[in-house]
Amino acid sequence: MAPHAAPAATLVDSFGRTVRSLRLSVTDRCNLRCLYCMPGGRIAWLGRDLILSFEEIVKIVRLLARLGVREVRLTGGEPLLRQNLADLVGMLAAVDGIEHLALTTNGLLLAEMAGPLIRAGVRRFNVHVDSLDRETFERASRRSALGRVEEGLETLLRLGAVPVKINVVLMRGINDHEVLAFADLARRGPFKVRFIELMPIGDGERFEADRLVPGREVRARIEAAWPLVPAGRERPAAPARIFRFADGAGDIGFINPVTEPFCRSCDRIRLTADGMLRNCLFSRSETDLRTILRGPEGDADLEAAVRATVAAKGPGGCLDLAPFYEDRTARKMWQIGG
Ligand code: 5AD
Ligand code: SF4
Repeated sequence: MAPHAAPAATLVDSFGRTVRSLRLSVTDRCNLRCLYCMPGGRIAWLGRDLILSFEEIVKIVRLLARLGVREVRLTGGEPLLRQNLADLVGMLAAVDGIEHLALTTNGLLLAEMAGPLIRAGVRRFNVHVDSLDRETFERASRRSALGRVEEGLETLLRLGAVPVKINVVLMRGINDHEVLAFADLARRGPFKVRFIELMPIGDGERFEADRLVPGREVRARIEAAWPLVPAGRERPAAPARIFRFADGAGDIGFINPVTEPFCRSCDRIRLTADGMLRNCLFSRSETDLRTILRGPEGDADLEAAVRATVAAKGPGGCLDLAPFYEDRTARKMWQIGG
């Protein structure tokens, strides 16, 4: 059969959503300790043998691409901590069907790695920056590293990587006094700023309920200074709602999973660094692809496991977050991948 004659059936869940995007976590390690994400003390990282090899990752991505996945976004933990990450990017860029390679990073290692990553095929960068002020950055991430992040961002610009998005998670009383500073950054360009609502998936316990700043409130604060005009979404399945500054100075986005869930248009699936496939950030179960890959089972079993995971996808974790403020998913965001 000619390769493109009869496309394999795509991955469609029982709510009619098609899976197009894979969030691929390549490590659970991180070099920051953001308050809402990681504990401050010692962490038991995944053992090396539990982490998928590049060959294992590519095998899964090839299968997913054959089933209709078109985008891979590398996450962690902090993905740049994975040894030889650019080699993996090159391998993924060569997979038939993968059209977009994106990366979400905290930016600490970008000054060194942006070049190799771009050469290997990363085309979209999201850099997570919770503060533009040195002291607040340190308070929010328990590390003094804003200078390195700034160098990383400058490197991306120098290398001509566009678009570069900046993800901001606001925490009331910690960094929410910087709303206008981030809006001003968005107005000046070329960075695109996206505020993400704090979700109950980190290590923060009550923290997440108490510190949430609803996107609507952030928008109102910005509009008091600079009027905004709704500009839809970049793509139908994109989580961010975009607003243009009325005076023509760029745009700003709001990702409001808590107060305005977008699960109905979700096109995502997630693979953890240790090879567990999850149909939702908030799913209570995961499918162990690593054991299938390393056992006697074959490609058909792998495909059946992927299909079953997609078929079991619920309406969406964000549609009913209340229980998660008390009782977390089995794993935290840094163990799953953003
Ligand atoms: N709520 C919202 N966003 C989070 N992220 C990490 N933990 C949380 C949380 N609890 C963000 C990171 C990064 C992206 C992968 O997800 O800041 O931008
Ligand atoms: Fe690291 Fe990202 Fe978690 Fe911060 S939010 S500790 S940068 S994984």
